[in-house]
Amino acid sequence: MKRIFSNREIVLGVTGSIAAYKACEIASRLTEYGANVTPVLTKSACELVGSATFEAICGRAAITHMFAPLQNPDVEHIAVAQRAHLYLIAPATANFIARATHGIADDWLTTTLLATRAPILIAPAMNTNMYEHPATQENMQTLRRRGVYFVGPDSGRLACKTIGPGRLIDPMKIVEACVPLVSERHDLKNVRIVMTSGGTHEPIDPVRYIGNRSSGKMGRALALEAIARGASVTVVTGPSEVAMPEGALAIPVETAAQMAEAVVNLAQDADVFIGAAAVADYRVETPSNSKKKKSGKKLDLTLVENPDVLGLVGAVKRAKQILVGFAAETDDLLANAALKLKKKQLDLIIANEVNTDVSGFGKDTSKAALIGRDGKVDDLPLLTKEEVAERIMDRVVALIHAA
Ligand SMILES: Cc1cc2nc3c(=O)[nH]c(=O)nc-3n(C[C@H](O)[C@H](O)[C@H](O)COP(=O)(O)O)c2cc1C
Repeated sequence: MKRIFSNREIVLGVTGSIAAYKACEIASRLTEYGANVTPVLTKSACELVGSATFEAICGRAAITHMFAPLQNPDVEHIAVAQRAHLYLIAPATANFIARATHGIADDWLTTTLLATRAPILIAPAMNTNMYEHPATQENMQTLRRRGVYFVGPDSGRLACKTIGPGRLIDPMKIVEACVPLVSERHDLKNVRIVMTSGGTHEPIDPVRYIGNRSSGKMGRALALEAIARGASVTVVTGPSEVAMPEGALAIPVETAAQMAEAVVNLAQDADVFIGAAAVADYRVETPSNSKKKKSGKKLDLTLVENPDVLGLVGAVKRAKQILVGFAAETDDLLANAALKLKKKQLDLIIANEVNTDVSGFGKDTSKAALIGRDGKVDDLPLLTKEEVAERIMDRVVALIHAA
């Protein structure tokens, strides 16, 4: 996230929604990731939240008035709009959406919305009836048609005690939705990536399963990096500690058999397939329909082999399709990974050390080597999973160009 947001200029427009306080969290995340955030509060927003909070979080003066005296012309008014890499309005009221649709320029935010050429991302927040009103729906359609992006809203319990759509989507999802819009690299534009992530759960009975320690962190990092670089990303994800990023189409599955079925259908249309999931090699032959009780005796489980997800994709690999696999090994890592690369017709394999304190399942860092079908080996130092994902996508881009 830090590399993507670092030094990007973001105008954060906060409007008069009850969810305005959640914009503090958005400002905080963006600032933490290195973005330069200019907070802009409408008159109504100032009734609900204080500009001083945003100034303290962002380290910048908040813009609250159209006709405030200029302190520094470089950082105020039109200069801010022209320098912006992104206009993010979160939360956006029904009133703001209506004003933006009709080009009404009656405060700083709506005036400079007409002046900026930066992408615009809107996160609506309002009462369900206001959201579902034809006026709001048609306004949003008009804005979409003009190229404005939307994220959310969520559905749930609203401040007005109704339940339905209109709730501001989770601040972290809003930050993730900014990623492809502020990113400077677009070398995966129009590339369709299908990937697997997480682990699998193989049922023993209705309450127990055989699983593994995969957290999904590497899969999430890969999906985020691919989205940032312009790819369309579909992730078939087994049980995972982390959510897939906003912008990825996540298809949840539980078992290896379900993962194989989903992947076989989706991979046919993919330019790149990445098998990052830790798929169980075996499943219980006949899981019990009722909870197994202690019997005072040994319990025997017969395990049968699961379908080989990567092997299935490799078997129907199209010309120019790129296949990427992972090898998580405890012994003879490079030799085993090179063998897997050949056997499964892969173009690239990531050999992961999994038995150390700093690398492997659940960790934020990884010690990996990237081995190409041409024999080229990048033995990476210990890196964060985000950094490893960047190196993997660099190799994927090179493979696409070479295909
Ligand atoms: C306590 C309170 C909460 C409000 N929450 C919302 C809201 O979540 N969404 C919305 O569209 N309007 C909401 N409104 C109404 C807006 O503040 C009102 O339409 C205002 O004109 C919006 O101005 P702005 O779009 O310039 O910020 C709320 C009003 C009050 C008093």
